[in-house]
Amino acid sequence: MKKIAVFTSGGDAPGMNACVRAVVRTAIHHGIEAFGIRRGYEGMIEGDIIPMDKSSVSNIIQLGGTILQSARSKEFRTKAGRQKAYDNLKAAGIEGVVAIGGDGTFTGARVFLQEHPDIPFVGIPGTIDNDLYGTDYTIGYDTAINTAMTAIDSIKDTANAHNRLFFVEVMGRDAGFIALRSGIATGAEAVLIPESKNDTDHLFSILENNLGINKMANIVVVAEGDEAGGAFSVAKAVEEKFKGQFDIRVTILGHVQRGGRPTCMERVLASRLGMESVKALMEGKKAVMLGQIDKNIVFTPFEKAIKHHQELNPLLINMVEILN
Ligand code: F6P
Repeated sequence: MKKIAVFTSGGDAPGMNACVRAVVRTAIHHGIEAFGIRRGYEGMIEGDIIPMDKSSVSNIIQLGGTILQSARSKEFRTKAGRQKAYDNLKAAGIEGVVAIGGDGTFTGARVFLQEHPDIPFVGIPGTIDNDLYGTDYTIGYDTAINTAMTAIDSIKDTANAHNRLFFVEVMGRDAGFIALRSGIATGAEAVLIPESKNDTDHLFSILENNLGINKMANIVVVAEGDEAGGAFSVAKAVEEKFKGQFDIRVTILGHVQRGGRPTCMERVLASRLGMESVKALMEGKKAVMLGQIDKNIVFTPFEKAIKHHQELNPLLINMVEILN
């Protein structure tokens, strides 16, 4: 293998830069030429493929975002788009590709490989949502939960100062990982996640109880994908039920959770997966996502990583219950 390329795709995640750096430097270490594809599949379709050397990834390990930039490409969903991408990779002499991203990225890679099996792709899980099967943690998740935790700590200060009930909405798409962890870490009174149903009724009973003991400062963390709707919908339902008894405020944390300096855990995980991905290509692996489970590197076929979602640990859900 003489030339490989790396790209980042879908929602950016802190740690992606550390991963790109590891791919480039590991490739160079093994005498392989490294290339970066800018803006994910969009750049692949446009032929935006740039040579990368050791210094092109200097001083990026600590940066959030992605120096290669990212995109969610509509054109790659078409056969014609994928053909253009293939032609560009071929023209650049690329013999292997490392795709850093989430569900959508691996879905695209899987279809691409069915049509063009001669360019192997391996994947690295990069998303703040932590919703991918085949790894304990995705790149970006640890930083995102720490960012959410710090923000909720701040909200807690003001909630206590004014005896207010806050609904804090966190990201995670259809998954409740960010909500659950940040809720436990901040001692939230309740956490609403898509994985557990009918939690609004349960929330009412927690608030009823707190009202009874005059506990007016409460934090409720709401996952954006919760079936009750976002934090505004839940706040509305609570206001209708308790009619002015709580002083309610809503905060949407939003994209602040996607940026920022990656944590130490993140940088190490991203560096390890990046390094192992090059080895995987050299060993002839393809159409697999690399993950780390119990400290071991694990390979999961794209098909499986896409179809299954990582399960939330029910013990953690129980913890909120007992400790609130
Ligand atoms: O998948 C990462 C994520 O940040 C989700 O948590 C969120 O639902 C989505 O991306 C937001 O996407 P966009 O940045 O395209 O609005």
